[in-house]
Amino acid sequence: MSIQSGGVNQQSDEGAADQPFYDVKRSYERNYAEGPFGAFAQADASSRQTVTPSGGAVDTPFSFLGQPLRTPFGIPAGPLLNSAFTDAAFRMGFDICVYKTVRSRAWACNPFPNVLAVHPAAEDGFLEPGGTESDEGVLADDRYGRPISISNSFGVPSRDPDVWQPDMQQAIAHAGPGQLLIGSFQGSRVSGMDTAAYIRDHVDTAALLQETGAKVIEMNTSCPNEGKHRLLCDDPQLVGRICEAVKNEIGDIPLIVKLAYIPDDRALDRIIEATVAHGVVQGLAAINTISAKLVDARGNQALPGEGRDRSGVCGNAIRPSGLDMVRRLDGMRSRRDLDFSIVGVGGVLDAQDFAEYRQAGADAVMSATGAMWDPDLGSKIARSLR
Ligand SMILES: Cc1cc2nc3c(=O)[nH]c(=O)nc-3n(C[C@H](O)[C@H](O)[C@H](O)COP(=O)(O)O)c2cc1C
Repeated sequence: MSIQSGGVNQQSDEGAADQPFYDVKRSYERNYAEGPFGAFAQADASSRQTVTPSGGAVDTPFSFLGQPLRTPFGIPAGPLLNSAFTDAAFRMGFDICVYKTVRSRAWACNPFPNVLAVHPAAEDGFLEPGGTESDEGVLADDRYGRPISISNSFGVPSRDPDVWQPDMQQAIAHAGPGQLLIGSFQGSRVSGMDTAAYIRDHVDTAALLQETGAKVIEMNTSCPNEGKHRLLCDDPQLVGRICEAVKNEIGDIPLIVKLAYIPDDRALDRIIEATVAHGVVQGLAAINTISAKLVDARGNQALPGEGRDRSGVCGNAIRPSGLDMVRRLDGMRSRRDLDFSIVGVGGVLDAQDFAEYRQAGADAVMSATGAMWDPDLGSKIARSLR
């Protein structure tokens, strides 16, 4: 296995212009210690929009899970590694910031590189989930273009709770008026752990989040945390048991469950039944990345190391899948007369994509890849709502 294109393995310094706030050319550890980069690095307290142009207090015309919001838009779990990133994102006008998924224990990051540019073969640049392309492989390299699609392969690293708890507490305190910090977590399955212990790990981690004062908590069921390429959300019954136990622990704090793309309506209905219909979950967020086989220009595995033949694709390539999930969730919500919030995620690159997600039924919309490459996306969407 090799990476042919020059520079993928190089950790280089580059200028602030056009530099994503999470710098894909540096390691996760360097991003954690030195980031954010680009325009986010320059966002100081004076960038914060705490007053309207006319000098009045900030308007909060939107509400999400009981929280007043300036805009129902933000950045999902992932590129905001710690409070330095969430502080900058709030200042740049991203009104909902999700602190990157944490765990009950310290957890190492996959080896560098963790991000590659991906180039689906289809003319429209979209990835068909489960399509033939995923068997042949999708070209991945270091040519980052627009519209941007990437893959990310981090393995959901986490600091020890002794580090992330006080940092998340600060992140929450630094949200401005009409802004919301959401804490995201997932369970950690380690060898020798039975189902009861796995459920308890979720409950214990949710309790640690509750201690930080998080007003909304998100549980990630859509990363391969069930072993190689297996997702927790593929097991609705276990998701239901975990959510019930977590909800018993966190009481009135709204709980969001983050889902992968689920193509089958019956499977999606089973998740709805086990979570929101059961009253233990107040919101569903969709989608996470879509798994694809990544190859370099010679058809070799693009990411180094065992178990990294496939990786999650996000950005422009997955927007149709994200919209499809949101429409189907919204349809099921109406048909079953249920009351829950939908967070639309996947390939939002501009205000038009945001509007499309809202029309599809999303109560809140988030962008990870799009925001990384466009630090002004939050302000652009705020302007589109005026
Ligand atoms: C750099 C990066 C890291 C991510 N890490 C996480 C994570 O820790 N937890 C999670 O639930 N999703 C994670 N995601 C997935 C995003 O939250 C989102 O679901 C996905 O990227 C699709 O949105 P996008 O097309 O706007 O990027 C990550 C995404 C990116 C780009």
